[in-house]
Amino acid sequence: MVTASPAPVASPVLGFDASAHSVDDPDSIWVVVNKARPMVPQDYEPADLETVEGASGTRLRAEAAAALAGLRDAARAADADFAMSTGFRDRDLQGSLYTTYVERSGQVRADRYSARPGFSEHQTGLSVDVHAGGCDLQSCFAVTPAGRFLAEHAWEHGFIVRYPEGKEDVTGYIFEPWHLRYVGTELAAEMRARGVATLEEFFGLDPAPDYS
Ligand code: DAL
Ligand code: ZN
Repeated sequence: MVTASPAPVASPVLGFDASAHSVDDPDSIWVVVNKARPMVPQDYEPADLETVEGASGTRLRAEAAAALAGLRDAARAADADFAMSTGFRDRDLQGSLYTTYVERSGQVRADRYSARPGFSEHQTGLSVDVHAGGCDLQSCFAVTPAGRFLAEHAWEHGFIVRYPEGKEDVTGYIFEPWHLRYVGTELAAEMRARGVATLEEFFGLDPAPDYS
């Protein structure tokens, strides 16, 4: 008699341990940095930064760099390739960028798309900006093949689109379809399965629309 094997339990919701990693420790892949949660310490720099394959000026923490290489291979195979801009940015570099944006847009507008120094997720070494189709740091990236591919598949490689559309009141930032944040495949799959788009909502943290 042939008996059917039980179906594998595939639900990422079952057995998920929401305390597996810290949201406070800057070295944790689940660290949450936003306008209400600055980098601590302010001069934090990851110890395991690596240059990202195919982008000599882009550095990420080792685990994130390896995952990004896999994501990019998958994107290429789907004719949705993208290129990388900045990954890790130290506090000083973030400060220069922010100053430039404030001069260009004024502080109120700049605060909607650029973090103040010491408050950027790029300082964790887990975030990277990507571009394609002439859309670099522009909303048109969302409708490029790469933008569409990443919205659908980034989670399979442990990344989330950190600043989703319609969540500025939670994240503090306008829709940034190009800003990917590595959180690992477990959490990315769990967020996808539960339909929760932001780290603040997933971990029950306060929304961070503004600096306090
Ligand atoms: N553009 C994102 C919010 C940053 O500056 O970190
Ligand atoms: Zn970014």
